[in-house]
Amino acid sequence: MATHRQIIYTRAPDGMPDAGCFRLVEAPLPRPADGQVLARTHFLSIDPYMRRQMGGGQPQYAKPLQGDVMIGRGAGLVVDSRHPDFRSGDRLQGEFGWREHALLNGRSLRKLPQDLRPLSLSLGIVGQSGATAFGLADIASIKAGETVVVSAPAGAVGSAVVARINGCRVVGIAGGPVKCQHVVADLGFDDCIDYKAGPMGPALAEAAPEGIDIYSDNVGGDILHAVLPCLYINARVPISGQISQYNRGESQGLRNTSVLLDKCVMLQGFRIGSRLARRDQALDQLLDWYRAGRRKFHETVAHGLEGARGAHQHAVGRQYRQAGGAPGRSHRMSQLRRGRFGRRATCKW
Ligand SMILES: NC(=O)c1ccc[n+]([C@@H]2O[C@H](COP(=O)([O-])OP(=O)(O)OC[C@H]3O[C@@H](n4cnc5c(N)ncnc54)[C@H](OP(=O)(O)O)[C@@H]3O)[C@@H](O)[C@H]2O)c1
Repeated sequence: MATHRQIIYTRAPDGMPDAGCFRLVEAPLPRPADGQVLARTHFLSIDPYMRRQMGGGQPQYAKPLQGDVMIGRGAGLVVDSRHPDFRSGDRLQGEFGWREHALLNGRSLRKLPQDLRPLSLSLGIVGQSGATAFGLADIASIKAGETVVVSAPAGAVGSAVVARINGCRVVGIAGGPVKCQHVVADLGFDDCIDYKAGPMGPALAEAAPEGIDIYSDNVGGDILHAVLPCLYINARVPISGQISQYNRGESQGLRNTSVLLDKCVMLQGFRIGSRLARRDQALDQLLDWYRAGRRKFHETVAHGLEGARGAHQHAVGRQYRQAGGAPGRSHRMSQLRRGRFGRRATCKW
């Protein structure tokens, strides 16, 4: 009987997720029923939201069930289809879960264009993360000439925000001098503050001397608290994530809130999953930008299904893509062993 490997979610983490939260098992390779496809996993996206799903905070989507395959978006190729819209060899993206092959319902799948390479882009800057940046820009009603500050600017969401902001001064807040340099030199931000280098207040005052019109918040916690007093009148603060809080037992809560009243500030949360029509529009635009060579990307790829567990331990601080292959006997897997599969991987912050 043909088998493949999958990773089971075994228990909720206490703080940082560890290898004990997962178990690698061998399982029978399923066959598609009517309306289904069987796809081989090439990439799994290891995203911050997964940590929230596993416990600690209100989960946004379906929670992984203990004893079930770990959840996760993936991209790969159809190997067997009983769905009228998909044929073997089609490239697609969907809710694969952490397994080498996924049995997928055609309704939840996105067929990917043949020219989108590497496939991992469909999980990042030409995918859900990139589309989130559109929602943030919509909420903020950005106008030319405004000063926009973006946290986690080197991440999949933050790096897509800048492309939406024409005619504004755009300042990132990132961890470390190398990352800050990357944000300015490669991603096109006007300035970047290193939040690990010391108190942020003086640096923010220098980078935005007239105050901040928009703060696109991807991290919450101390960075949000440092930015609030530096906001200008009628500032907008779209909140897409709180990555600094996901491993904490207790959230830091919101401080410095008097500024909301004093400066008539608007804070608004945003989830791309609650605006699917906007997401689809955004994906088309992102693809156009990619084809026109206007999208820059850096990814970190951990190899093999085993790599997903280690990568996940960093998911709340970095985003990784897990490059998958077929079961060990296949041609692809031998490529993986020789390390050629990952030649596309540069680095993803
Ligand atoms: N609302 C939505 O629909 C939606 C969709 C996608 C993502 N999100 C959220 O958006 C945020 C970014 O996601 P992403 O996919 O861009 O993640 P990503 O690519 O994994 O990047 C995460 C970034 O967060 C920064 N970071 C990690 N821990 C931090 C901490 N304790 N304090 C400050 N910064 C920290 C890291 O940069 P440094 O090394 O510079 O710290 C890293 O570059 C997350 O909060 C995620 O949950 C929301």
